[in-house]
Amino acid sequence: MRPVGFFDSGLGGASVLREALHLLPNENYLYYGDDANAPYGDRSYTDIAFLTEKSVSAMADFGIKAAVIACNTATATCIDALRGAFPFPIVSIEPAIKPACETEGSGRVLMLSTAATASLPRYKHLLSTMKDPSRVVSVPCPGLVERIERGCFAADAFDDILEKHLSFLEGETIDAIVMGCTHYVFIKKAFARYASLHFRGKAELFDGNAATVRQLGRVLKANNIENPCGSAHVEYRTSGDKARLEPIFRSLIAL
Ligand code: DGL
Repeated sequence: MRPVGFFDSGLGGASVLREALHLLPNENYLYYGDDANAPYGDRSYTDIAFLTEKSVSAMADFGIKAAVIACNTATATCIDALRGAFPFPIVSIEPAIKPACETEGSGRVLMLSTAATASLPRYKHLLSTMKDPSRVVSVPCPGLVERIERGCFAADAFDDILEKHLSFLEGETIDAIVMGCTHYVFIKKAFARYASLHFRGKAELFDGNAATVRQLGRVLKANNIENPCGSAHVEYRTSGDKARLEPIFRSLIAL
């Protein structure tokens, strides 16, 4: 009956939780965002690992039965250490480059993420298992998360940042764009807008959210810890300014 804990550096993990509310409505949830320390993506690996472990410890103290690391950056940095440190099952998100690389076409696959995710061995290894890793262009996009954390989601509100990071691909054929950061799922319209103005190709958008939640369902079942009578109740906790963040969080999970 205990809740499943969802962790992210900030609001991004709400995009994964939202999926869980649809796919696993019999569970109850506890969300923890480390907004006081977000973004994680430009921090050192030591910092990210320290802050993530501290946040998961806080969720453990609140009595969760399983955790979802709804943060690509934290997964890439320290998922193995977390699994060794806590007694409950831990499910984690990974960038959805596999389905993206299965798209038809001769164009590129764009993988957008934080700087940390793109540079870590875990992501490089995932990339090396693709049939044609050279099709994938990995682009760190600092700046997006900060703006999303401020509650900004408009399609045209990110043109300057996207221009700065993606102008070197002007006119290229892009078959797929992987949103390799859970925050980015909330600004799909900004990516679609940029792609329609600057790229050729269909630039189909991919995220790993539904796959992560399906894995959570399998893990709860395998450990015999499914909740038969939960009601998708969500308790929200943050290390940041709860009065400012909770209304944004609630509107994001209701989308
Ligand atoms: N939402 C996060 C991710 O999926 C982290 C963003 C950040 O804090 O930089 O990577």
